[in-house]
Amino acid sequence: MIGPMAAAVSTEANEAPLWRIDHGDCLAFLQSLPAASVDLVVTDPAYSGMNRHLMLGRGRIVGRYSDAGRPGGRWFQEFQDDPETFRALLRELHRVLRDDRHVYVMFDSYSLLSLGHLVREVFDVKNLLVWDKALLGMGHYYRRRHELIVFASKGKRPLSRRDLPDIVRVPRITTAAYATQKPVALFETLVRASAEPGFVVCDPFVGSGSTAVAALRAGCGFRGCDASEEAVALARERVASIAGGGPDPLEGPYRVKRRRTAETNSSTSGVPSAAADAR
Ligand SMILES: C[S@@+](CC[C@H](N)C(=O)[O-])C[C@H]1O[C@@H](n2cnc3c(N)ncnc32)[C@H](O)[C@@H]1O
Repeated sequence: MIGPMAAAVSTEANEAPLWRIDHGDCLAFLQSLPAASVDLVVTDPAYSGMNRHLMLGRGRIVGRYSDAGRPGGRWFQEFQDDPETFRALLRELHRVLRDDRHVYVMFDSYSLLSLGHLVREVFDVKNLLVWDKALLGMGHYYRRRHELIVFASKGKRPLSRRDLPDIVRVPRITTAAYATQKPVALFETLVRASAEPGFVVCDPFVGSGSTAVAALRAGCGFRGCDASEEAVALARERVASIAGGGPDPLEGPYRVKRRRTAETNSSTSGVPSAAADAR
């Protein structure tokens, strides 16, 4: 179980599930968790390879890649995804996951080819899912409309249903509060297929908190982190609203148009999700 949360995460349907989002590096965060303390990993890492391939318009379209993670920069901060660091991440995910549980790791097409095979060294890979974003994004040659999700397990566990297809069609978010914000419905499909109420879902690249919202809606607890202060602030505010029975401030009819912070830049309303479109 997870530290102070342990006793409070409950399988009773009428008790609010607990959540916690830390600010920091994914590896340090995972190392801080006890072994076998989470029940499901659903994560969408910040790969560097894709950014390097996508300096669209030499920075005119999505901002200069060299500004990634800086105030005013359009690219998000990256995880250093060389094979050794990625292996270390996978090993930590394996350590914190209980036996007979599932893991979902998102990949873009570049990182799938360079890093995806490493998941097999650590987990039992079951399938490769396609997220069909329904709407066309950016890209050279063929424009992007999908991302990939490696679905794997630690031990044996069936899905909650037997009729789930390997293509998940959920329209991508076109004007997002956070540059790489993914739709909650995508993650909710995965969480509901692999979790029971009371499970603890873990995402060490939490971004705007979409996986956390999906977890809470499925009656699960959540542990996550992000290296970006902006992401952590946004995700905490969002998840607090959901946990308190309120609306989702970043998606749906109650979406709040946001003033971009210094970390994104100073123009008004939502961020056209350039980095997300490009992936
Ligand atoms: C692709 S985004 C996740 C988006 C998220 N799924 C959502 O829907 O908002 C990847 C996130 O990883 C974060 N990140 C980059 N390097 C990191 C690191 N070393 N440790 C933890 N988070 C990191 C970035 O700040 C970014 O928010």
